[in-house]
Amino acid sequence: MKRRRVIYEGKAKIIYEGTEPGTVIQYFKDDATAGNGAKKDTIEGKGVLNNRISEYLMTQLAGIGVPTHFVRRLNMREQLIKEVEIIPLEVVVRNVAAGSMSKRLGIEEGTALPRSIIEYYYKNDGLNDPWVSEEHITAFGWASPQDLDDMVNLTIRVNDFLSGLFLGAGIKLVDFKLEFGRLWENDFMRIVLADEISPDNCRLWDTVTNEKLDKDRFRRDLGGVVEAYSEVARRLGIMPENIQGENKGPVLVK
Ligand code: TMP
Repeated sequence: MKRRRVIYEGKAKIIYEGTEPGTVIQYFKDDATAGNGAKKDTIEGKGVLNNRISEYLMTQLAGIGVPTHFVRRLNMREQLIKEVEIIPLEVVVRNVAAGSMSKRLGIEEGTALPRSIIEYYYKNDGLNDPWVSEEHITAFGWASPQDLDDMVNLTIRVNDFLSGLFLGAGIKLVDFKLEFGRLWENDFMRIVLADEISPDNCRLWDTVTNEKLDKDRFRRDLGGVVEAYSEVARRLGIMPENIQGENKGPVLVK
């Protein structure tokens, strides 16, 4: 049997060559990192949950006309995605102050923002993903003004839709990070949503108790990471069965 070629290995995912032209396979690891890799651990079951949650959210978004790289889930840990040229930006949307915004601007965590705020970070591990402005992005050619316009429009739609979807599950979408890619179809290029949307890159708080149901449980050593991610999947109605017994035999994934 031929071994699949690894195209790229990141902190939480591996990209393998795809099964069809123009596709690649996204494999979700159980590895968790924070602080640009300063803190590391393995959280059994996290990859399975993120694969399923991201599949669900990308599919729901495609249903309202948001173009994404997602093609289909292949198994517990892998999904087939379209091969795109990743734009080297992390687009963060904030609805409620938390994390680095609270630290940087001295706004108490949990303060509702007067409007949703979009921030950009340049994807560069060596530089610790620095905060950048639209000026930097267009001046250095990371994205064109048209690319940026497309990304902002999509980001606003994603935020509106996901805020409502999570609210229906008793979850407040505090903030999240998106990545986009350029999808080439013959001579035409479209900006599509890429990477993943999961509790690894969203802040998700219970609407009543404000309990954290996201990666802050890992970043802040609160424990119960898989339990929190499972709770998100359960509330979305997509909990994969037998998540802890993944290696103990055949598993049914709904
Ligand atoms: P921050 O408050 O640390 O800037 O994070 C804002 C949101 O972006 C939060 O939901 C976590 C997510 N995020 C990532 O997914 N990857 C990253 O590298 C960073 C810094 C944040």
